[in-house]
Amino acid sequence: MEARDFELLIGRNIIDRYHSDDDRPDVFELLGRKWDLLDGVWPPAYSPGGELYADRIPFARMSAFLEMGCGTGIMSVLAALAGTERVLGLDLNPAAVRNTELNAARHGVADRVTARESDLYSAVRPGERFDGIYWNPPFLNAPAEVVDSSLWDETMFDPDYAKLRRFLAEGRELLHPGGRVYLWFGEAMGNPTLIADLAAEFGYVLGVLTEVRMSEIPDALAEAFPGELIGGGAEGFAEWHLHLLELAPTANGGRAA
Ligand SMILES: C[S@@+](CC[C@H](N)C(=O)[O-])C[C@H]1O[C@@H](n2cnc3c(N)ncnc32)[C@H](O)[C@@H]1O
Repeated sequence: MEARDFELLIGRNIIDRYHSDDDRPDVFELLGRKWDLLDGVWPPAYSPGGELYADRIPFARMSAFLEMGCGTGIMSVLAALAGTERVLGLDLNPAAVRNTELNAARHGVADRVTARESDLYSAVRPGERFDGIYWNPPFLNAPAEVVDSSLWDETMFDPDYAKLRRFLAEGRELLHPGGRVYLWFGEAMGNPTLIADLAAEFGYVLGVLTEVRMSEIPDALAEAFPGELIGGGAEGFAEWHLHLLELAPTANGGRAA
């Protein structure tokens, strides 16, 4: 099996479990808190991501934080709870905007968290700048001809990583001095050097805040990455990892060394 097919299988596993679950929750628990989950929004109840490692992101030192593709808005809420004064969640999906507002209200940070419908940074207003920009992006480089404009496909697929490229290129221009971009990302996709290559191309120094090895998958992620899919041996992807990455812009904006 190709790495890309493995990712597709994992992605489909998450979405299928979401759709086939007759008891699909509209409120779920994660990190000791309850969260609203609206229909059609990426479901961290079935596949949590970088929010599990949010304590590695220095929110308390940030005055402004942007969560791209905010979904249920967990990371936005965690940023506000950790002390960030101004948090902006952006998502293509209008239901995700409402979902982020609901969770901000649920956790008493509606005064700090704003959410806007946005195609990447289109809804960022002139002059807005951030100390941190985060995304748990669509992981899969599926061929453009198999991707439709449904919200699930927008959430799962990024043909030729066009979105990720724009996220990194344009995000750089929206950072305060000293600001950083954060990414939750899977490895491989048949291209294990992808993020390092993009970091160099767009002028970032790449750091790894957390590496989650499939062979040591924590309980919270085990259902999204079941053993029978990860497997072992030649067909297995036990050496596939997930990462919370930190990208620091180089001073000159050119290629990182
Ligand atoms: C993998 S989900 C992550 C959701 C949430 N941040 C989380 O970690 O639970 C990716 C999110 O990116 C959003 N998205 C995809 N393409 C986008 C775009 N061009 N502009 C803004 N958001 C986008 C999707 O709607 C989805 O909510």
